[in-house]
Amino acid sequence: MKNSLFYFSATGNSLAVSKEIANKLENCELISIAEVVKKESYDIDSEMVGLIFPVYCLDAPKIVREFIKKVNFNSNPYIFSIATNNREPGYTLATIDKLLKEKGQNLDLGYTLVMPGNSVVIQDNTNSREEQILRINNSKVIIREMIKDIQEKRKAAIEGDFSLKDSIKGLIYQLAVYKIYKPQNHFWTTKQCRRCGICKKICPTENITLEEQEVEWGNNCEGCLACFHWCPQSAINLGNNTLNKSRYHHPEISLAEIIK
Ligand SMILES: Cc1cc2nc3c(=O)[nH]c(=O)nc-3n(C[C@H](O)[C@H](O)[C@H](O)COP(=O)(O)O)c2cc1C
Repeated sequence: MKNSLFYFSATGNSLAVSKEIANKLENCELISIAEVVKKESYDIDSEMVGLIFPVYCLDAPKIVREFIKKVNFNSNPYIFSIATNNREPGYTLATIDKLLKEKGQNLDLGYTLVMPGNSVVIQDNTNSREEQILRINNSKVIIREMIKDIQEKRKAAIEGDFSLKDSIKGLIYQLAVYKIYKPQNHFWTTKQCRRCGICKKICPTENITLEEQEVEWGNNCEGCLACFHWCPQSAINLGNNTLNKSRYHHPEISLAEIIK
């Protein structure tokens, strides 16, 4: 029977982790969550299922939650998840476990993994180049251990911060980002924009349109920042503080891999 690894990734951290793990598992297919959610329905009949994605506002991204609600589990797989994050994983994996339970499944193994931060929403939470390299090198060592556990189908308590304080902080964070600030209202492009359309192609929710003179963002914005970080001209900005800010993507992941 096959193994399936589902990933969501804007700047490549979660995809790099997914690729390393998929390479070490037999008969493992790597599937984009952004592609699955576009389908009417999706059947999973694998022996093992992996879910790898970033933490957003101490929780799982909306697109990942939608994915779990959409899929049908036709088998009873061993399920593991890795939530890549910038040191604040919150209750992300508790959400995943809860959604899986609603589908009659369990999260057997749930890891959080510190990777370079990519958020510039409201405030800059990215790291220095040195710190990015350090975190990527550290992650490779940790991933090797994770792979052993996954191959053995180990079951363990899921990782994260599950205190009431974190739940409240997460709710406030989500309210501030998605209901009050709304990233889609703060993107703008400089004169360097060549209207190449990469932002439109890379958007996981097909939320970007190219009008006559303008790039426009609709209301279905995940806030993932793929458009911001991958624009080849660094022409996309968010608010007023990103003009001279360097963009980030995982050094081993290409634009073509994220777009596909
Ligand atoms: C909108 C947004 C919110 C984020 N919120 C958190 C958070 O609450 N805690 C955290 O540790 N990292 C947070 N991050 C950072 C990402 O989880 C982290 O950089 C992740 O590895 C990016 O994965 P990717 O490269 O696969 O997209 C956030 C990033 C974005 C874009």
